Amino acid sequence: MTLARLAVMTSGGDAPGMNAAIRAVTRKSIYQGIEVYGVHHGFAGLLGDEVVPMAVNSVADIIQRGGTILHTARSSRFMEPDGAQVGAEVLRRHGIEDLVVIGGDGSFRGALTLEALGVRVVGVPATIDNDLEGTDVAIGFDTAVNTVVEALDRIRDTATSHERTFVMEVMGRASGQIALTAGLAAGAESILVPEAPTELEAVVERLRHARDRGKRHSIILVAEGAGRGFEVGKAIETMTGMETRVTVLGHLQRGGNPSAQDRVLASRLGAAAVDALVAGTSGVMVGVRGQTLITTRLRDVLDAVRGIDVDMFGLAAILAI
Ligand code: F6P
Repeated sequence: MTLARLAVMTSGGDAPGMNAAIRAVTRKSIYQGIEVYGVHHGFAGLLGDEVVPMAVNSVADIIQRGGTILHTARSSRFMEPDGAQVGAEVLRRHGIEDLVVIGGDGSFRGALTLEALGVRVVGVPATIDNDLEGTDVAIGFDTAVNTVVEALDRIRDTATSHERTFVMEVMGRASGQIALTAGLAAGAESILVPEAPTELEAVVERLRHARDRGKRHSIILVAEGAGRGFEVGKAIETMTGMETRVTVLGHLQRGGNPSAQDRVLASRLGAAAVDALVAGTSGVMVGVRGQTLITTRLRDVLDAVRGIDVDMFGLAAILAI
């Protein structure tokens, strides 16, 4: 199937590596003689016809940059009945029938509404939450985990100096993937994730046990879906009398230069998305299983709830005794 042109957009929360994916989609397309258009500001921009042609040099010197040169925005307007209709019409006016959507589950719901109107769509998983089935890892996750690990290492310096207990709240929406992976990597004494509800009394018991064996500081990592860092911190200080401080890492986790792993993943998945559209595939998300590129129906991705690796969760607890 010959493809004359396609469009690419980023949508939802930004993630480090999105620019590398935009670069891959753009340059792979141009290499194959396909015109590329960038949609600025996600679905909101599509409704406003913010569709601009992309050239080879449009994506120069961005592989190393966090964020997204196409910007992103959440659009409730797009999810209204006529929203997708307007979006599909805008694409059609540009002669575009193929779209790459780089983002997370909310973005893929928007993509499917366009597919129902005849636009061929392929999703590229890019969310620091890493809460998508259909890929071992999403773009942005590795960089976000490294950001959290660096922050935890810094917190451990001051926790040991003052012999304090620290609570750190990290992002992830309803997923505990960031907290679990970063917590294991940084040796957090307790990791609270929504997928494995933990009573505060159990956390306090671990703290007391650690103190009894001479541990003078601890770090408790709280995924935002499992609780509010400040509430956990206050409860721990009240229940144990241990001087406790709280850090909420917030949007720091969304920024930063993407890691090499995220740049490579984004480059592979961006190019794979173009290949899928050239092959006439639509309604799928590209992903990796090990080192192998795979595609999964978007509907199956959206129907799935990704859990955590329970063995890893158990290991983190054992190694932090
Ligand atoms: O989905 C990515 C994410 O960073 C979540 O982890 C977080 O809860 C949410 O976005 C924050 O959304 P916003 O950037 O709109 O505040």
